Amino acid sequence: MTEDLVNVERIDVSTNPAGGCVEIWTLNRPDRLNALNRATHKELIQACDKAESDDSVRVIVITGARSAQEDERPKPKAFAAGADISEFSGQGSDDVRPFFENNAWEKVWNLTKPTIAMIDGYALGGGTELALSCDIRIASEDSNFGQPEINLGLIPGGGGTQRLTNLVGYGISMEMILTGEMIPASRALEIGLVNSVYPPTELREEVIALASRIAQKSPYTVKVAKRTIRSSLDLPLTQGILAERSEFVALFDTEDSSIGVEAFLSKKKPKWKGR
Ligand code: COA
Repeated sequence: MTEDLVNVERIDVSTNPAGGCVEIWTLNRPDRLNALNRATHKELIQACDKAESDDSVRVIVITGARSAQEDERPKPKAFAAGADISEFSGQGSDDVRPFFENNAWEKVWNLTKPTIAMIDGYALGGGTELALSCDIRIASEDSNFGQPEINLGLIPGGGGTQRLTNLVGYGISMEMILTGEMIPASRALEIGLVNSVYPPTELREEVIALASRIAQKSPYTVKVAKRTIRSSLDLPLTQGILAERSEFVALFDTEDSSIGVEAFLSKKKPKWKGR
């Protein structure tokens, strides 16, 4: 039997409405530092389709597995050390184009539900890009980030030139992509590449706590918030403000906005309906 390349774990957390969960997706090729081969992309894409159509999934956390520490030569910790370089050998543009046109980085980016990258170890190349496809990035102190594709005579191909630049700005993105050098978690925090950094022993607990807090909000409103914030990346400011106004006004026709407002006024906790 082959092992899953992406382990999907449902974590019961308190959700509102009740019955929801946080899903943790663990990239499971620790001997290859969770390098993203084609089969892993396929499983990630399947996990996205399943989670999208399952109302009980409120928040998705993506992380990387660790190799068994009793191994003779244990591998370093990784979120993902990039695309699987062994699959690049001897490939021409016609070979790689179909795969890059249907990849997991875009699929994760296009999820309507909130996503958190939980990074403990190397996040390089496609690994940093997978983290960039998530909405929020939380790292351990042991993590390192980078876009080393330049060392292979390549550039990032999973959205890195665009999403990294959007997140950390033109100059820092240029420096990271043109040098291919790694930065530690402390620097990633400084430049806004990650939201928070924790000791490795506290990482999972902190991430699940964050995911649980988001899972307490109306899942309907969370989706509207995500797509409205996302539109700021594509729209000029004036159009973005109009888009926000339109989404905001439309929320007044939802049950959850009435529930939220009435709960505040009567000093109670809202019980969302998710619509
Ligand atoms: N694709 C395929 N295999 C990879 C990989 C990748 N992106 N990254 C690491 N591996 C493999 C290594 O080949 C090695 O395999 P082996 O044990 O059979 O020799 C194993 O994972 C462990 O990596 P190793 O290089 O031995 O660990 P290290 O501690 O010496 O170095 C890194 C760690 C992350 C610095 C190094 O593996 C690296 O530079 N990886 C490539 C990063 C990269 O360029 N990513 C962008 C790809 S486009």
